[in-house]
Amino acid sequence: MKILIVGNGARESAIAAKFKNDSRITKMYFAKGNATTYELGQNVFEESVSGLRDFAIKERIDLTIVGPEAPLVEGIVDEFKAHNLKIFGPRKRTAELEGSKAFSKKFMQTHNIKTARALVFDAYQEAIDYVRQQKFPLVIKASGLAGGKGVVIADSLTEAESTIHKFMIERIYGDAGIQIVVEEYLRGFEASIIAFSNGEKLFPCIPVKDYKKAGSGDKGPNTGGMGAVAPSPEFTAEHMVDFENNILAPTLAGLHSQNIKFKGFIFFGLMVTANGTYLLEYNMRLGDPETQVILPLMENHLYDVIMDCLEGREVNLQFKDEKAVCLVLCSGGYPRNFETGFEIKNLEKVKHSQVLFAGARRSGDKILTSGGRVLSVVATGKSMEEARKKVYEDALSIKYDYQYYRDDIGKF
Ligand code: AMP
Ligand code: GLY
Repeated sequence: MKILIVGNGARESAIAAKFKNDSRITKMYFAKGNATTYELGQNVFEESVSGLRDFAIKERIDLTIVGPEAPLVEGIVDEFKAHNLKIFGPRKRTAELEGSKAFSKKFMQTHNIKTARALVFDAYQEAIDYVRQQKFPLVIKASGLAGGKGVVIADSLTEAESTIHKFMIERIYGDAGIQIVVEEYLRGFEASIIAFSNGEKLFPCIPVKDYKKAGSGDKGPNTGGMGAVAPSPEFTAEHMVDFENNILAPTLAGLHSQNIKFKGFIFFGLMVTANGTYLLEYNMRLGDPETQVILPLMENHLYDVIMDCLEGREVNLQFKDEKAVCLVLCSGGYPRNFETGFEIKNLEKVKHSQVLFAGARRSGDKILTSGGRVLSVVATGKSMEEARKKVYEDALSIKYDYQYYRDDIGKF
């Protein structure tokens, strides 16, 4: 079986690591991959949807899995299906649940999915007039994809007005700011739940806590994720029931009523408040760094689950009764300015953890930093403390210039 994995982060490295022990998989290709995937298969420097399609036809790829959102929103699944290529993910129209916050908010409101109160605007002056009558904080979101930067929590009217101006008039995120969503601020803690869809039903994985802020103690700017733990100890069985009744079930009913029968992943970004669990967003893909902690605990073969979904069969997900911790090692300065090109040393001293590269590339026999989030260190244990200890001990061994990581991942 030949598999093509689209993406180049630690999430894609985690997928590759999961497939590594499956003897049915004879070759893995990565577009465009990184230092981990270089060792587990073949990196392919093809990024356009048409280029990937031609590659999959030429190499007779049996199954394609897409990591990031952009190719899904661009329509990679439609294109592959039109050429009878097997691919796991939503079509362009369904990927709009992630690609357009206006579309997803409307979907949530239409189908009574528990979410923050919000209004969608496509006229600048109307948005300004509205926020002038509101209390703060207030959340302002560019509707389209903005690389995770299109959400601002405005603490004052001045900040709200200037954000709306930047999104809608200056268009700092281009067309992503043509429409905006203005939403009530919810106070609580966040959790991520990823489910597999077989076209008829959704099969949720264990809840994950993703650490989004750059600094320990949740200080500093938002990032693409500084670490994760699974299962999230904050998200109780009671929260799960609330999620299933008020978010998961009505989402499925909504998909059915709109005749959307996609086969792929659906990611629920949740905020748990004193009034229960709310849906902040859908992503139509696996999360990063959530994937790094879900897959090591999943007992099923990933390939079996994906094929069961693609063929419309029931899925019986099984997770180990253990904890997983993922710590992201960064280039100092990330998510703002940082330098790369430094050699990553002492990898052979890592004893207890899996090292999954992201912003790291091969150069001869060396591995050099090449991005903001350099690698994920992942370990499992009987307790969170055991997994956390392994990860931090191994992180301490790994050396490169300007290394930075949070010291509180998995600390409760
Ligand atoms: P989103 O892309 O919509 O999930 O927003 C990105 C991040 O902004 C979330 O992970 C939250 O940390 C924060 N956020 C989004 N919406 C809200 C809200 N209504 N209340 C509080 N924080 C929010
Ligand atoms: N960890 C959140 C995401 O993948 O978007």
